[in-house]
Amino acid sequence: MVYRFEEVTSTNDLARDAQFGHGDVLVAERQTAGRGQRGHTWLSEEGLNLTFSLIAEPTFMAARDQFLLSEATALALCDCFAEFGIQTRIKWTNDIYVGDKKLVGILIEHYYAGASLRRTVIGIGINVNQTQFDPSLPNPTSMQLETGRSFEREEVLSTFQRCFNARYSQLETTVWEPLQADYRDQMYRLEQPQRFRLPEGEEFTATIKGIETDGALILHHNDGQQRSYRFKEVEFVIKR
Ligand code: BTN
Repeated sequence: MVYRFEEVTSTNDLARDAQFGHGDVLVAERQTAGRGQRGHTWLSEEGLNLTFSLIAEPTFMAARDQFLLSEATALALCDCFAEFGIQTRIKWTNDIYVGDKKLVGILIEHYYAGASLRRTVIGIGINVNQTQFDPSLPNPTSMQLETGRSFEREEVLSTFQRCFNARYSQLETTVWEPLQADYRDQMYRLEQPQRFRLPEGEEFTATIKGIETDGALILHHNDGQQRSYRFKEVEFVIKR
């Protein structure tokens, strides 16, 4: 069921409430404390975009397999945009890019029951019809900027829901290799040299080779070594 709210702090916060369950989608017109990855805030102009959280209860999955939810979500978004004629790529771990610009931000939060997943809150911000952005954002884009036309937000949301259900069904089969292969194929700058930054600030160039099953990024370094990096162990250096 889709629930709509005029104003919330963050749809991801609201989605923790036990009154909501598997498959529910909480959409907010306005978030007063929209959250992004790495402690950032998520800015979205009212009336133009989609900010929502989708709740999944993947209780059949072990906590160690949780990255698959990120893969299914990112792929569902790519599938969705392809239906609107927009070709997208997944910037590890799960931003959605058009060219070198960010179209979607995803914030996934997991809740556990022992070693299994109990609830996964998938928070998504899609820039739909916004054409002017805060100058502090390095590289935003929107569906409208990419195509030159506006979109019905309802249609974008329902298309995403259908695409997500299809990807989630792939998860339920527990045969995950096709999903993992699709994620790799859709990766932004796959097999291309890319500039990265370590948490201490040091920068380097390496080639993206893919991801480990736990989601760690596999990089081929110029010294010939291959190393894997988990979330927060490395970040892309974005050209403005
Ligand atoms: C990022 O790119 O940093 C992630 C942004 C995620 C934003 C969405 S908007 C809906 C949901 N509620 C939040 O507070 N954040 C996510």
